[in-house]
This record gives sequence, structure tokens and C-alpha cells, in this order.
Amino acid sequence: MAIVLGIETSCDETGVGIVADGRLLGAALSSSMDEHARFGGVVPEIAARAHLEAMVPCVRAAFEQAGISPSGIDAVAVTSGPGLATALQTGLAAAKAYALALDRPLYGVHHLAGHVAADTLEHGPLPPRSVALAVSGGHTSLLLLGDLARDPIVHLGDTRDDAAGEAFDKIARILGLPYPGGPAVDASARDGDRDAIRFPRAMLGSGYDFSFSFSGIKSAVARHVEQGPVRVPDVAASFQEAVVDVLTHKAVAACLAHDVDTLVIVGGVAANGRLRQVAAERCAAAGITLRVPPPRLCTDNGAMIAAVGELLIAADTPPSPFDLAADPSAPLTRASLSPRRS
Ligand code: KG4
Ligand code: ZN
Repeated sequence: MAIVLGIETSCDETGVGIVADGRLLGAALSSSMDEHARFGGVVPEIAARAHLEAMVPCVRAAFEQAGISPSGIDAVAVTSGPGLATALQTGLAAAKAYALALDRPLYGVHHLAGHVAADTLEHGPLPPRSVALAVSGGHTSLLLLGDLARDPIVHLGDTRDDAAGEAFDKIARILGLPYPGGPAVDASARDGDRDAIRFPRAMLGSGYDFSFSFSGIKSAVARHVEQGPVRVPDVAASFQEAVVDVLTHKAVAACLAHDVDTLVIVGGVAANGRLRQVAAERCAAAGITLRVPPPRLCTDNGAMIAAVGELLIAADTPPSPFDLAADPSAPLTRASLSPRRS
């Protein structure tokens, strides 16, 4: 068993978590979300500055909650990509500093692998094979997983344009709802009629094509609102229903096509209430076991990165070099990331 410190700074959350034996010992989170709200999206330089200010207090708070001292950890894991370059660099610099000062190995982790591993903190190890639906602000992918630490990650399909979370954020803006849009649309939709408007379900009937597209629905919602007047909760609920319909339909189809009996839904959008509900219904009907982390572990956090670190150590993965570079557009092929600074 290894005790791992995890650091996550790819976007606007400074996340620190300490994990041992697949369990969360302590965590702290600081968000610069409010500082970006008036710009309608994350401003990289503001995020990087906020990470710098929040890092040491967050690390201290996580250690305090875990009841251990820094010298009690065995390794440091850090998100080295993908994400905002300056934001990633702040976390990398901190992780390297802790690893060097404490003389512990450093593990570069792919952010999306972190989202998948978040679920293991709640529901235990993943089965030997599973399908993951990764839905965040930057990604929408259906993935075929083996051993997360050892095996390559196979992409069954990805979005061709916007990510699901990005679509929620843009629709929120169109509807005049606050940033970040996902939680705002989720809340508004609870008072709406999801059958009020039939928005397009892109690529729904495309058989074994597990790709997604969300730019069409964004335009459809914009056109509908321009023709106004509209009832915001109805538009929010109808939009959400269309997105959830496509995501869950394709995720279940991917499990059946690949003879996999476990679906894990991860990333910020996995916090969505309606997505969790429809996924549970459709998985039950298809005989598929559904795993979704609790909402606090769906959005970005440090524990999920520590969880990957622990899996990498258990799989005897070599640590990353200390000139590990941030890779803002790292492709998701493996959980560990070890590009060097060029
Ligand atoms: O995984 P995450 O925290 O950061 C990225 O890696 O991108 O995901 C953030 C995304 C944002 O687009 C946010 O609007 C969306 O997840 N999100 C939601 C909900 N909570 C967060 N989308 C729909 N419903 C939610 N409840
Ligand atoms: Zn994320």
C-alpha cells in the first residue's frame, strides 16, 4: 500500500487529495470559478495565478484532514495534461517541488484517467473490462478500458466538435443562466418540461459509430431562443433531454457491442441529475452494471489524480522524469504521461 499525494490544476480548480489503499484520506479544493464568471469562461492567466495562491493552503489542509505529515507520503502524482498550459505548469511546479523536497517519486497523470479513477475511490477497483463514458468541459469520449494502469485506453468514439460540458456551458449563456452552465442548466431543467421542444439527437441512429456531435443542438437552441419568447426551464429541460438521450443510448450500445457488462460515467457532466437517472434506467433494462462517482468526485479534484498514482505504483509503472513537461493537448492513450521538456 502506498500513500499518494495528488495535485490537479488543469482548469479552474486547485485540487489536492491524499489517497491510500484506494481510499480518500484527505482532500482540499479551491476554485477560481467566481473570478471567471464575468468573462463567461475560464481565463487561463487568472486560473494560473489562483492556483499559485491556493496551492500551499490546499496541500496543508489535505494533510491536516488526513492526519499525516508530508514525510508520510510515498509518492506525488500530478495532472500533466491535458488542460490550460499555464494552469498545468503551476501544478507541475508544485508537485515537483514536493517530490524533490521529500525525495519521493513523481507520476505524471492524464486528467481523464483521473476522472475514471475517481470512481474507484467510491466503488472499489474496476472490473477487468469496462466501458467509460467520459463527459467533461473538454472531452466527450466512449472508452474501452482494461487495466487502467497497465493497458492502453481504446477510444470507441469521441466528439467531432463541442464537448458535452461545453454544450451545457454555451446553452446556459444563450439562456442567460450563470457560469458554469452545467449545474445552472441542471437546476433550471428541474422546473421545465423535457418534452416541450424536440431538439435534434445528432448521430443517434449511427449503429456502431460511437462518435458524438453537439454543435447542431447548440445552433438549434440558439435559433429557438432567437424566435422567442421562451420559457427558460422548458428549453433547459428539452436541451438536457436530447443530450442525455444520445449519451446514454450510445454508452449502452457500446457496452453491448463490446460484450462489456460495466459502464462507468465520469467527468463533470456525470454530476448531471437527469443523466444519472436515465443511465440507471437504461443500464438496468440492458443488464449492465452502472457506476457513477458521487457528484463531488465527478468534477475536477486532486483525489482522482492520487488514485491513478496509487494504481500506477501497484502496477510497477516507472516514475516520470523530473523534467516532465506539461502537455496541454495530451491524447488519451494511457493513464500515465511522461513527456520530457524539450
Ligand atoms: O470535469 P470537469 O470538472 O472539468 C473538465 O475537465 O472540463 O467538467 C466541467 C464541466 C463543465 O462544462 C460544467 O458545466 C459541467 O462539467 N458540469 C455539468 C454539471 N456539473 C458540471 N454539466 C451538466 N450538469 C451538471 N450538474
Ligand atoms: Zn475534468
